[in-house]
Amino acid sequence: MNKKYMTVNGKKVAFTGKEKNLLTVIKGMGIEIPTFCYHSALSVYGACRMCIVEDEKGNIMASCSIKPQEGMSIKTHTKRLMNMRRMILELLLANDHQDCTICDKSGSCQLQTLAQNMGVKQVRFDPRKEREALDKSSPSIIRNPNKCILCGDCVRICSEVQGVGVLGFMNRGPKIEVSPAFNKPIADVDCINCGQCVSVCPTGALLVKDDTMKVWEAINDPEKLVVAQIAPAVRVAIGEEFGLKDSTNYLYKSVSALRLIGVDYVFDTSFTADMTIIEETHEFIDRVKQGKNLPHLTSCCPAWVTYVERNCPDLISNLSSCRSPQGMFGSLIKKYFAKQKGIDPKNIFVVSVMPCTAKKAEAIRPQLSTEKMQDIDTVITTVEFARMIRKMGIQFADLEPSSLDMPFGFSSGAGVLFGNSGGVAEATLRFAAEKLSKEPLKDVNFDDVRGLAGVKSAHVDINGTKVRVGVVSGLANMKEIISKIRENKSEFDIIEVMACAGGCIGGGGQPVPNNIEARKKRNKSIYSIDSQAPVKKSQENPTIKQIYTDWLGEPNSKVAHRALHTHYGSKKRIDGMEILDSKKTTEEKLTVSVCVGTNCYLKGSYDVLQKLISLSKEYQIEDKVEFKGTFCLENCACGPSIKLSISDHKFGLAHEDVEDFFKNNILCHFSN
Ligand code: SF4
Ligand code: SF4
Ligand code: SF4
Ligand code: FES
Ligand code: FES
Repeated sequence: MNKKYMTVNGKKVAFTGKEKNLLTVIKGMGIEIPTFCYHSALSVYGACRMCIVEDEKGNIMASCSIKPQEGMSIKTHTKRLMNMRRMILELLLANDHQDCTICDKSGSCQLQTLAQNMGVKQVRFDPRKEREALDKSSPSIIRNPNKCILCGDCVRICSEVQGVGVLGFMNRGPKIEVSPAFNKPIADVDCINCGQCVSVCPTGALLVKDDTMKVWEAINDPEKLVVAQIAPAVRVAIGEEFGLKDSTNYLYKSVSALRLIGVDYVFDTSFTADMTIIEETHEFIDRVKQGKNLPHLTSCCPAWVTYVERNCPDLISNLSSCRSPQGMFGSLIKKYFAKQKGIDPKNIFVVSVMPCTAKKAEAIRPQLSTEKMQDIDTVITTVEFARMIRKMGIQFADLEPSSLDMPFGFSSGAGVLFGNSGGVAEATLRFAAEKLSKEPLKDVNFDDVRGLAGVKSAHVDINGTKVRVGVVSGLANMKEIISKIRENKSEFDIIEVMACAGGCIGGGGQPVPNNIEARKKRNKSIYSIDSQAPVKKSQENPTIKQIYTDWLGEPNSKVAHRALHTHYGSKKRIDGMEILDSKKTTEEKLTVSVCVGTNCYLKGSYDVLQKLISLSKEYQIEDKVEFKGTFCLENCACGPSIKLSISDHKFGLAHEDVEDFFKNNILCHFSN
């Protein structure tokens, strides 16, 4: 290819013309130019003007928004440019940015770093607007509009990478701001809690909800046994928080840190990832044999599950019914470990250390509970974990490694692969190949599903059975695939879907920068852990075998279903429309109207509705009952509200009382 040349700061530099922009050429020379609104994975927006350069004629231009040109000569750090950048920073800092010491983004805030690097010591301007209230409605993220610098990064990642698009610019002129439609709380829109917007936000305008206080309280409660699970992707990223940039496996230092913090047992989520593989592969093979609910869609990623429930509930039956490894772990501890140890599960506090913000929302799903208590008590992200380590004054880099606790501290390499996009698919193939061929699998690596591409595929021939595997990360990549599934033209039998680009290694709770370079290193490290693992296949994890013998019986047994599986429900925002799940007959039916008004919806009315529908199937009265979603029943204080066609009474129904309500008010209607 013919090289072209230009001059940067007096130095001749070659370029190909294929670069995305001038900024790429400048960065390639090792010159750091500040940027707020440029991300290599997103479209170019060109709003912040921090990346400005000056040409020979004194023209100022944003280097992210123009192409390099033959013969061009530019300077990157003239006095004029530096003054302009300082002025922009000062204007941005005027808006509620003078409380860095108490901001959760402190230390990783680009605005703070740049202000320090560029010597901005005073702010001469008044704030642009009145202070607004923080939006704390989401279980995963907090939005502080006062700290927003309008870079638009969150708007573009939510729409371009996640295909969700719940954030946008509102108003004009000085009133312009970024928010969900109609300035609604984030919990009232279709946010899937992936936290990707937090990862790209350069300031404290978007934050992960901090749940560390709950963990400190449990540790200081003498009644509580604190049990931690640590997810695969945390171990390859936590080092970054302490300046250890090599993405080595820091699992064993993390175990030492958790012990010093005061956690009683430290287990590995990769253990229940192995368990997921056993349950999910059986489920998948059964579906293939029966030719139903295909393509099989994985359910490990709660952001993806929420996406399905909100946007395409018609695909719920394609989702695996397996709980995610986090969900299985919670159940294992509260239902099995508690019994083994002779401890009341109420006195066990389960904390998950996750790369993920969506896991915070998953942990509070009513379905993931045991005896009316949540299986997972709280979820902290990698960054929150690092915050706890600092708070304890622990010198992470100097820690001696410690081993995990047994029995749930041992996992196969396949279990660790869950940290990468393609990992669930590869682990499934390692088991499915042996199940279908009844022969030991020699080459365990499935290279086609590896790497950071948003869509990957593999066609695997197992003893004449062809398995077509799809792997998707970044939910915008699912749009076309969903259309094909709906048209019955799916190219895949099984599709692994992870919301975050590259999988959990790039989760919204991971250290920043959470960019492609960081993800590449973490991805490589996960494969290196697998290659060194003494056991590579989930089915060879000896403790898993033992648990099936002692407790679960067979994979997909009734016990396994109660403990390790879950159910989903449509969360599509509808109004007054019939939600019909039972078959119509000519007999007169009992109509059960469940309020899906905002108030009841937020209190979980969809889950109540789904539970009632599933009970009507279990008790074989689905032909006699008709379920409807309705607008507000004007009973908000007692919601979720329910009305039966046989009376005007409005019931208020908590999720834990659904079964009793069903038996006493619906089933009894049909018994003689
Ligand atoms: S958490 Fe994810 S879905 Fe929600 S606003 Fe942020 S990027 Fe969009
Ligand atoms: S919330 Fe953050 S990412 Fe979004 S526009 Fe504001 S500063 Fe940028
Ligand atoms: S890909 Fe992983 S980190 Fe991202 S939302 Fe899904 S489970 Fe969480
Ligand atoms: S990074 Fe170029 S204008 Fe913002
Ligand atoms: S929103 Fe359900 S009763 Fe008011």
